[in-house]
Amino acid sequence: MSGHPKHPDRLLDMALHVRGESRYVDDLTPPAGTLHAAVFSSPVAHGRIRRLEVSKVLTRPGVRGAFTAADVPGENQIGGILPDEPLLAQGEVHCVGEPVALIVADTARLARAALGAVELEVEKLPAVFDPREAFRQGLLISPARTFAIGDVDAAWKDCDVVVEGRVDSGGQEHVYLETQAALALPGEGGSLKVISATQGPTGVQKAVARVLGLPMHLVEVEVLRLGGGFGGKEDQATPWACLAALAAFRLGRPVKLVLQRQEDMRLTGKRHPYSSDFRLGAAYDGRLLAYQASFYQNSGCTADLSTSILERTLFHATASYHIPNVRATGACCRTNLPSNTAFRGFGGPQAMLVMEAAIARLAESLGLSPAAVQERNLLGDGDVLPYGQRFHGGQARRCWQTAKTRYHLEERRWQVAEFNRTHLLAKKGLALMPVCFGISFTNQTLNQAGALVHVYTDGSVSLATGAVEMGQGVHRKLREVAARAFSIDRERVRLQPTSTAQVPNTSPTAASTGTDLNGRAAELACRAVLERLREAAARELGKDRPQKVEIREEQVYYEGRPTSLTWERLVAAAYARRVSLSAQAHYATPGIHFDRTAEKGQPFAYHACGTAVCEVTLDCLRGTYTVEAVEAVHDLGPSLDAAADRGQAEGGIVQGLGWLTVEEVLHAGDGSLLTSALASYKVPDIHFAPRRLEVQFLEDTVNPLGVFNAKAIGEPPFMYGIGVYFALRAAMRAFRPDGELAFAAPLTPERVLMQLAGERPL
Ligand code: MTE
Ligand code: HPA
Ligand code: MOS
Repeated sequence: MSGHPKHPDRLLDMALHVRGESRYVDDLTPPAGTLHAAVFSSPVAHGRIRRLEVSKVLTRPGVRGAFTAADVPGENQIGGILPDEPLLAQGEVHCVGEPVALIVADTARLARAALGAVELEVEKLPAVFDPREAFRQGLLISPARTFAIGDVDAAWKDCDVVVEGRVDSGGQEHVYLETQAALALPGEGGSLKVISATQGPTGVQKAVARVLGLPMHLVEVEVLRLGGGFGGKEDQATPWACLAALAAFRLGRPVKLVLQRQEDMRLTGKRHPYSSDFRLGAAYDGRLLAYQASFYQNSGCTADLSTSILERTLFHATASYHIPNVRATGACCRTNLPSNTAFRGFGGPQAMLVMEAAIARLAESLGLSPAAVQERNLLGDGDVLPYGQRFHGGQARRCWQTAKTRYHLEERRWQVAEFNRTHLLAKKGLALMPVCFGISFTNQTLNQAGALVHVYTDGSVSLATGAVEMGQGVHRKLREVAARAFSIDRERVRLQPTSTAQVPNTSPTAASTGTDLNGRAAELACRAVLERLREAAARELGKDRPQKVEIREEQVYYEGRPTSLTWERLVAAAYARRVSLSAQAHYATPGIHFDRTAEKGQPFAYHACGTAVCEVTLDCLRGTYTVEAVEAVHDLGPSLDAAADRGQAEGGIVQGLGWLTVEEVLHAGDGSLLTSALASYKVPDIHFAPRRLEVQFLEDTVNPLGVFNAKAIGEPPFMYGIGVYFALRAAMRAFRPDGELAFAAPLTPERVLMQLAGERPL
């Protein structure tokens, strides 16, 4: 990165990362006397606690404390949406990995060494791991919900063809590089500062206050940055922060809790696996007429964010398509697994996979290409979605058409067919994947943000917001927003660590809205200071019309002509005139609403859309495959940070195709995690990434609800990865034109091989 000669760009995350200078929770030098905690968790998936004894732990070397539910001074409850999540198990355990006791010692090693001294007797109860089984037993976290439009029951008779099927999609481990971590520091007067690796500092602050029985003003939560979150720290950073806080509070000493990788994998939730049924009806020409889908979400043992995630599944039930008659039903099924949680796409990818599966089956049955069916039904401006919102400005069709021409679809179809004709044991597959993702929290309340800006007397600027930097570049983008608002060098702007004491009552950085919400708040705060600066400038220049003052690239203009004032001189002059150089601002997304009784409304500020072309080559003898290409045209609008946006798109695509191909979460029959290390859980590496990975952005579009007209980018590209699944399926079809191919993700090489061999061994 280029640095400003006067203000070297020391504060840029990228530069710090490559030099290894960025600090994560575990890199902080804790104060002398800091203790270290380790978690004792349930070895049993479901059972009644008969005996829990920690007295022997206290005799172990270096141990300073051991805590159970009985030691929680406030409420032993951290459930955010529903109160069904004890901080430490009480009475029963509900999954393998549920925290039962906390051991605190002089070192993390000594704390872990003492775990074996915890005495726990559990009377086993029947455990359920399958969402459909949980549904049959009535084990629901909340009542099932249904989104509907038109008259689906009446529409079937108008269909020329109706297909049905079942789709299963697996979990996904977040694999953030920084594991869950927190450092709790007791302060004066019963106050506490918690440094937490969380996407939601306010959520942590609330939970810590609740657990300790403190008012929120005694608890400050601070986040410098995360080594990745991907949704896994939206809700699930909270227990670890609360546990560290509990120990710090009880012992009056700083306490650090950092999960090891395997602990993190075993104790935290993943993407929700879903099992779903679909029924899709169409006319002979491929026009979709009726769609019905039932989603069984494997929620795990607590609500966590599951109900919100299910809601987004229903919002995205029809993916990128317009269908006049729809009924989509979903249930959060309680099972005895660690609670599944937010993961990039937040239930949207699971829904889109089902819709695309239905289209794949329908196309087969009509003898059309899936792309013909997709194209014919793609959302256009004015189409009404099942939840009542009118699709507008999404550019779905333009992206589709641009992708087809830019990536030479017709020619490549021909090449693939020719390859498949001339190769017996290798087959290629091609698929298009359109994505339309709704931008806004589906929970209306969360669509608000605050910002606090200070201009210092040397002209440097400090900006604090509720946004958490987790590698997605939100701090770079917010810095850009402030620099543009003031028209000053971006090197003058510094983003503060995210803190509940600087900006309160924040939403988690999630739903891809980090820049939209916090950027708008930042812009408002900067504009408030700017107004005062313009008045000060007019006075300083002896002029009477502040509205004629303008700042352009650090130079002050009056009536379009440069003046003697620069940014620095203006700031100094304003201070001398006793003008406030600070402002706080609040932003709430306008125009959004949703009625959960009618299940209708306008939940999203806008949709982020695009289309990817995916191509694979399959080794039909081994089941192994190569992702040849994922090439996408994506509507972004004018980018605030080209490098960050490209990184988001490319990273999202690779993470998305990992979910559908090699990433497989497996549990043993007793509910314990088999894939609990990166040796057994495979993530896409550089060799597995697409050989050609290209994203072409539409930049000439405008999005009035974004910041400087840009669209959100964090989650939407993830779902292009779904196209790789269907490219693989197309290649499998080329090898095995007959028989059913099940819809089950991930399509690991193992699964591909089983399906290719099918009934008749090769
Ligand atoms: N990119 C990186 N590098 N690391 C992350 O943890 N999280 C994703 C996405 N991109 C993530 C990421 C998820 S799940 C979301 S919701 C958004 O970033 C959140 O940030 P934003 O709202 O600023 O886009
Ligand atoms: N996305 C991510 N996180 C959320 C949402 C959402 O739509 N709603 C509540 N938390
Ligand atoms: Mo992202 S799953 O909304 O944190």
